[in-house]
Amino acid sequence: MNQFINQLPKAELHLHIEGTLEPDFLLEKAKKHLITLPFHSINEIQQAYNFSNLQSFLDIYYQGMAVLRDETDFHDLAWRYFQKAHAQGVLHADIFFDPQAHIERGLTLDTVSDGLCNAVEKAKKEMRLSVFLIPCFLRHLSEDSALDTFAMCLKFKKVITGFGLDSSEVGNPPSKFQKVFSQARQEGFRITAHAGEEGPPSFIEQSLDLLHAERIDHGVRCLEDEKLTNRLVREKIPLTVCPLSNLKLKVVNNLQEHPFKKMLACGIMASINSDDPAYFGGYIADNFEACGTALSLTKAETILAARNSFMGSFLDANTKAAYLQKLESYCDEHLN
Ligand code: ADE
Ligand code: ZN
Repeated sequence: MNQFINQLPKAELHLHIEGTLEPDFLLEKAKKHLITLPFHSINEIQQAYNFSNLQSFLDIYYQGMAVLRDETDFHDLAWRYFQKAHAQGVLHADIFFDPQAHIERGLTLDTVSDGLCNAVEKAKKEMRLSVFLIPCFLRHLSEDSALDTFAMCLKFKKVITGFGLDSSEVGNPPSKFQKVFSQARQEGFRITAHAGEEGPPSFIEQSLDLLHAERIDHGVRCLEDEKLTNRLVREKIPLTVCPLSNLKLKVVNNLQEHPFKKMLACGIMASINSDDPAYFGGYIADNFEACGTALSLTKAETILAARNSFMGSFLDANTKAAYLQKLESYCDEHLN
C-alpha cells in the first residue's frame, strides 16, 4: 500500500456497514448463533463473491446479514470497520445501514441502533473518528414500508443525520419515494440517494428534483447526459463514487474504463469510497490505489478526491474547514 495514499486524510461517504461483513466474521457469528450457512470455509465464501450485476450481489448481501442477531454483533461489525477506516486515513465517515433488512428478520431498531451507537461513541473516544449514521430505504420494497420505517426511525432522531435510498435500482425509480423523502426533509434530515449506478441518468435528475437529494451515491452514468453533467458541476452536487464496487458489479468492464478521472476533469465534485468493501476486495485506500493506478491519477487528482470527500460530507462548515486544513498540512508536509 502506498503510504501517502494510506495516510492521506479523507472522509468516507459511501459505506454500507452490512457490506463490511468479512468472511471470517460471517463464520464466527454463524457459529455463535448456530446458523447453518451454505459455506464452510473462508475460501468457499470468497468464491461465492463472484457477481454478474448488482442484483446477484444483493442476494448474497441480504443472506449474509442474517448472522447479525444482537446488539453485540452490530457493535463488533461497526468497530471492526472503524479500526480499518482509521488505519486507512479516514477522519470522518457518513455510514449507511439498512433498517428494513433487519426489521424484516424480526430484529428491533433498538438492537441495531444501540450496537452501532456504542461503536460510534468508542470510535470518537479512542480514535477521534467522527461518524454520522444514515439509514437507507430499500427501493425494491414499497413506499408504505419506507414510511413505516421512517416513523420508527424518528425515535432515534438524535443519532441519525440523514436518509438514503439503496438496493435494486432498475425498475425502482426515485419517483416512487417522493412522500417519504418529503417527510424526512420536513424533519430536518439530510438527503442522499443511490442513482445512476445501473439506472439511467434520468434517475439522478429525479433524485435531485423529486427527492431533493443533496448528493448522489455512485452517479457513474451521469456523463452519458451532457446537460446533467453541466448541472452537477454548476450546482456542486457531490458524487460518492466506488471504483472497486463498479468493477465487481460489472458497471464498468475494467478500471481503465472507469469515468472517475473524466468526472474530475469536468469539474464534478467526485470522491472515492468503498461501498461494500468485504465483498468488493478493498477498503477506501485500496479504492484510491486501484483507481489511481488504473487511471494514472496525478497527486493533484488524488488530493482533489480527498478534498471532495470532506466538501461532500454532511459535516458542518467549521468542521469541514478544520479537516480541509489537516489535509492541506499533510500535503505540505509530504510533498515539499
Ligand atoms: N446496497 C448495498 N450496496 C449497494 C449498492 N452498491 N447499490 C445499491 N444498493 C446497495
Ligand atoms: Zn452503495
